[in-house]
Amino acid sequence: MKFIDSQNISDKRLLVRVDYNVPIKDGLIQDDNRIRASIPTLKMALQDNASLVICSHLGKPKGQVRPELSLSPAAQRLEELLETQVSLAPDCVGEETLAMAESLKPGQVLMLENLRFHPEEEKNDPDFSRELSRMGEAYVNDAFGVSHRAHASVVGVTEYFEQCMGGLLLKKEWEYLSKIVDPARPFVLISGGAKVSSKLGVLYNLMDRVDSMVIGGAMANTFIKSMGFGTGNSLVENELLDEARNIIHKAREKKVGFYIPVDFIVGLDMGSDQGSEVVPFQDIPEDKMALDIGPATCALFAEVLNRAKTVIWNGPMGAFENRAFAQGSYNIADLLSDLSAETIVGGGDTDALIHKMGIAHKFSFISTGGGSFMEFLEGKTLPGFKALENKSG
Ligand code: 3PG
Repeated sequence: MKFIDSQNISDKRLLVRVDYNVPIKDGLIQDDNRIRASIPTLKMALQDNASLVICSHLGKPKGQVRPELSLSPAAQRLEELLETQVSLAPDCVGEETLAMAESLKPGQVLMLENLRFHPEEEKNDPDFSRELSRMGEAYVNDAFGVSHRAHASVVGVTEYFEQCMGGLLLKKEWEYLSKIVDPARPFVLISGGAKVSSKLGVLYNLMDRVDSMVIGGAMANTFIKSMGFGTGNSLVENELLDEARNIIHKAREKKVGFYIPVDFIVGLDMGSDQGSEVVPFQDIPEDKMALDIGPATCALFAEVLNRAKTVIWNGPMGAFENRAFAQGSYNIADLLSDLSAETIVGGGDTDALIHKMGIAHKFSFISTGGGSFMEFLEGKTLPGFKALENKSG
C-alpha cells in the first residue's frame, strides 16, 4: 500500500475520503475526534500546495437527502481546526459540485455533501464511482472507520484514478493494529454494546487468539437467557440463543475464560432516571430491563483485567447515554486507564466515552474505527485496504 507521505501530491487536487461519521445532537458535534484525527493528512497536503475535495458519509440516510444528516456541522468544525475556509458543496456529484471542485486553487478546501444521500454509494455503483472520481486528480483514503465497507467512495472510485494512496491516519491505524498479531498474554477481549449479532464474527474469530472474553452491554442478556435464566424486559436476540450457547461451548472447548455479568442495574426502560436497583443475574424482574453491569460484575471483571497484559475493548457495558446506566462503562474505562497492560480501544461509543472522561492519554491506542477495527483484528482483509493494495502495482 502506498501512503501520502511518500507520494508526489504537490499542486494536485486530491479527493480525500474521510470518516466524519460523528455523533451530532441538535446540530452540535458531540465528539470531534474523528475530524481531529484527519487533520495531519489534510495539513500535510495543504502544506504541499495540494487542494482538497473532502468526502464522507454521516449516519444512515439510506439513499435519501436528509437535511439533519448534512455534513455542514463537520465542515464548520473542520474550518476551525484547519484555520482555513472550508466550503460545502450542495451535493457530492453533479455539474455544480464539479465546477466548485475544478475552481479550487492550491491550498483551498471543499467538502462534499453526505455521500450516502445517494443509494449508489453503498452499492459501490461504477457510474457513481466514476462521477465521484471526477472531483479529484488523485485519491486518498484516510477513512479507516469505513474501510470495511465496499462502498463506491472507498473501493469503486479507486478504479478511476492513476494515483491512489492511504492517508496518515490509515497508516497509523494499520501500523499499530498489525502489531497486535502477537500480543503479550494474558490477552483479553472486552466486548459490549447492544447486539451479539454484530459481534458474532469477532467472538468466533478471536476465540483462537485471546485467553479470556469479558461480555457486557445488552449482548450479555442473550447469553444469560441462553443459559435458561429469565431476563425480564431486557433486550435479547431470541433468534441467537443457540448461537450464544455454541459460543459458550466453544470457549469451554478452547479453554478461553468466558465472563458474563453476575449482577445488573435494572430499570423500567433506557430513559429511566433511576439506576440504583441492583439485582443478581438470576433475578431480573419481569417488568424491568438489565441496563448496566452491577458492582459485583465490575469486581469480577477487574479480577480478570488486572492480570491482563493486552486488552482490547469494544462496546459499552450498559445504556451509557443515560448517566443512570453509565457507571459500569465508567468503571471499566477507569480500571483500564490505570493498567500497565497494552490497552486498545475501538468503536465510536467507547471512544466517545473515554474522550468525555478526559483519560484518552492513558490508553495505548484508541482506534477511530468501530466495525473496521474489529474486522481488522479478526484478521479480515478490509476492502478499502485491498483496493489501495491493488493500485500499488
Ligand atoms: C462507523 O461509525 O463505524 C463508520 O463510520 C461506518 O459506519 P456504518 O456502520 O454506518 O457503515
